[in-house]
Amino acid sequence: MNILITGGTGFIGTALVAQLLSRGDAVTVYTRNTSLSGDQSLSYVNRLDDIPASTVYDAVINLAGESIAEGRWSDARKRALVSSRVDTTNALYALAGRLARPPAVLVSASAIGYYGSQDDTPLAEDAAAVAGFSHQLCVDWEAAARRFETLGTRVCVVRLGVVLGPGGGAFEQLRKSVQFGVATWLGSGRQWLSWVHRDDVLRAITFLVDNDGVAGVYNLTAPEPVTNRGFSEALAAHKRVLVGLPVPGVVMRLALGEMADELLLNGQRVIPQRLEQAGFSFEYARVDQAVSALLA
Ligand SMILES: NC(=O)c1ccc[n+]([C@@H]2O[C@H](COP(=O)([O-])OP(=O)(O)OC[C@H]3O[C@@H](n4cnc5c(N)ncnc54)[C@H](OP(=O)(O)O)[C@@H]3O)[C@@H](O)[C@H]2O)c1
Repeated sequence: MNILITGGTGFIGTALVAQLLSRGDAVTVYTRNTSLSGDQSLSYVNRLDDIPASTVYDAVINLAGESIAEGRWSDARKRALVSSRVDTTNALYALAGRLARPPAVLVSASAIGYYGSQDDTPLAEDAAAVAGFSHQLCVDWEAAARRFETLGTRVCVVRLGVVLGPGGGAFEQLRKSVQFGVATWLGSGRQWLSWVHRDDVLRAITFLVDNDGVAGVYNLTAPEPVTNRGFSEALAAHKRVLVGLPVPGVVMRLALGEMADELLLNGQRVIPQRLEQAGFSFEYARVDQAVSALLA
């Protein structure tokens, strides 16, 4: 397949590009980095306008976006979080409309922040959402992606959970919660952490690219979410840990502001209902499997 990808230099994208190349796909990465050079099957573009209208992409995968978890959410930062996602998706849509043949499929990232801060209710794709910055960001991002449907492109939106993988992302932060013989959890520790192993993210994205019969919104989280405290305990089971301590919510709010409430002190218990109904099975369904693989 000939595939165009945004965010192909990031934590998920780098691993995804490697996987696509290894199965024989030709990949073009749209990036702001002007110093990257490719080879026969991997190329980089810095301007979508440089892509000739005759180019045929079998699939577009859209992962670009400023990091949500870095830095306080000032008004300027919020604008950057939205525009890096929505403007990039709109630019892709403009490209797709200019191509002689629009891409057959778009797989576009969103996040479980779509559901807003929720308690214990299991959330499938049709669940009601709670208002908040993360929710509105995802609504706008998903709406931009769904415009591809007007071109006849099959659109799959993936609401990603907290992606755990080696060498970066949330796992490097979470593993610090069991340092020095002390296991910690955030706030009450009862908030849900809907995690997913990065290998399953790569497998699910290629599953959605390859299967003509699937379209719409898909939660991309492991079937068994855990609480924040449950995650610390799963980590602690692999370490020598003597004491457990909460990190008070008030400390986190002082340090991180609104982001602490939306990302860390509250969570969502998300269920990958539509992916499982479509026949996708997770290699890492339980957190102890994922943690032991990641610590190995
Ligand atoms: N990792 C997670 O746990 C998680 C959870 C939920 C949702 N997601 C979403 O999934 C996507 C990929 O996640 P990731 O962890 O791989 O992210 P990442 O490592 O932060 O990489 C993000 C990519 O987006 C591009 N980017 C960053 N800022 C940009 C900007 N201002 N304008 C245009 N492009 C920009 C970068 O590409 P260049 O520097 O090459 O331009 C980078 O490769 C993100 O949109 C993220 O919000 C991730």
